[in-house]
Amino acid sequence: MNIVLIGFMGSGKTAVGRALADNQGLNFIDTDSEIEKNLDLSVKEIFHGHGESHFRSIESKIIKEISEITGNVISCGGGVVLNPENIELLKKNGKLIWLDASAETIIGRVDIDKRPLLQGKDPEGTIKNLLAGRRNLYESAADMVVNTDGRSIGQIAENIQDLIRKERGN
Ligand code: S3P
Repeated sequence: MNIVLIGFMGSGKTAVGRALADNQGLNFIDTDSEIEKNLDLSVKEIFHGHGESHFRSIESKIIKEISEITGNVISCGGGVVLNPENIELLKKNGKLIWLDASAETIIGRVDIDKRPLLQGKDPEGTIKNLLAGRRNLYESAADMVVNTDGRSIGQIAENIQDLIRKERGN
């Protein structure tokens, strides 16, 4: 199986995913990095040069490819839940874990400069609105939920390992 991390920007998916993969001896895949490699451009450049819809279509292509392989920790871009087909594919070989975080936590953690969706005049308001609109998508896609507010990368990774162990019954 794959361990698939979903959640809003700044919820810690990449850092937690790396820690989990190290602890478990699994391969780590970050969908944003795969998209960047695919086009040899940064996420920001893709949004600005080609538009969000092009980014989303490459994102879905990458998801299709990585949903065929197993034994990975996969960290997904925050918008992966916008396309139900992405979720269906990821569930074939993966357990989806939602790293939940409050808007306040996200505002404190996210590097706004690297996030094309937060480039307007009011990034904090945008975070709140996007999060409110997506919360139910994360919730319905998730097999398990881990709250990350006020917790370290190591604590979150351990929490996920415990949940997976319990699910496997050992
Ligand atoms: C996005 C989240 C980003 C990246 C892109 C769009 C989103 O990934 O895929 O900027 O729609 O929430 P992170 O969640 O890793 O920041």
